[in-house]
Amino acid sequence: MKIKKILVTGCGGMLGSSVYSHLKQKGYDVKPTDIDLNEKWLSFLDVRDYDGAKKICDEFKPDLILHLAALTSLEYCEEHLEEAFKTNYLGTKNMALIARKIDIPLVYVSTAGVFDGKKERYSEGDIPNPINVYGRTKFYGEIAVQSMLEKYFIARAGWMVGGGKKDKKFVSYVLSQIKQGKREFNIVKGMRGTPTYTFDFARNLEVLFNTDFYGLYHMACQGETDRIEIAKHILEVLGIKDAKINEVDSEFFKKDFPVARAPCERMIDGNLNKKKINLMRHWKQALMEYLENEWNSLIANKKV
Ligand SMILES: NC(=O)c1ccc[n+]([C@@H]2O[C@H](COP(=O)([O-])OP(=O)(O)OC[C@H]3O[C@@H](n4cnc5c(N)ncnc54)[C@H](OP(=O)(O)O)[C@@H]3O)[C@@H](O)[C@H]2O)c1
Repeated sequence: MKIKKILVTGCGGMLGSSVYSHLKQKGYDVKPTDIDLNEKWLSFLDVRDYDGAKKICDEFKPDLILHLAALTSLEYCEEHLEEAFKTNYLGTKNMALIARKIDIPLVYVSTAGVFDGKKERYSEGDIPNPINVYGRTKFYGEIAVQSMLEKYFIARAGWMVGGGKKDKKFVSYVLSQIKQGKREFNIVKGMRGTPTYTFDFARNLEVLFNTDFYGLYHMACQGETDRIEIAKHILEVLGIKDAKINEVDSEFFKKDFPVARAPCERMIDGNLNKKKINLMRHWKQALMEYLENEWNSLIANKKV
């Protein structure tokens, strides 16, 4: 069936903004929902509320559910276990139940955080072993989707990059500090991963959900890196030569970020490659585009 109408949950977040603008630009009839109505184009849907979500789906009659809603702060999830479980696991189960009931495919966005970080890189065949509450709740969501549905796509993202003002991740942390005039940065060494640009992710999702290649996919940008290299690269691109990077242990940030993080979240997009539908660009190319599009004042000034 040709996908025309798409209901998106959690569309008010970092990834949702890119997903929404991409799908609108491609001409889909999109219903963007969230519990946090931070944009005028969003409408309310709480994925923990099965009846409420079902009613909205019955009215809108989507051809596809794109399920992005989640509690994404590792610290918040660890401290609010029940809420994290209800949102990330039961919320996903609710959306899967609805998709099954109205017989439409569901896309579930998961995370490299389902792995324990003991390996150097992960492909879809590797067994998850999450080490924190967030990772566990997202992994339970995957199990719910896989056990309840035949028509599903699970797309695991790496380190999310994008979303402009909604970006609350590492790249925006570095850029915001640069903007404030900071020239000395404490960055945790040994944290390895694969950045995932929200626009590339949205584009690749669209290609994927228009196939019947149902299943599990890693969807991260090309090229492996670590936090130190990303910070150095941003400084280089912006032409900032007088900055100092202190390579610190995770202990340094223990007070602000007490939750255990996997040291390695690098992913290989094995299944996208096999199907020849991998549109994810190299992270440096994607990051450049993000800087130009969302942080252009920094790019324009070069010397900030
Ligand atoms: N951020 C990353 O680095 C990353 C990496 C890999 C995968 N992912 C996955 O990608 C997806 C999108 O995440 P994101 O990066 O866009 O994070 P985000 O900016 O935190 O967006 C998630 C959105 O879901 C909303 N939400 C929370 N509880 C909800 C509920 N009960 N019902 C409906 N909406 C709810 C959040 O609202 P509030 O802001 O009010 O909580 C937020 O607007 C998530 O499934 C996440 O697990 C994220």
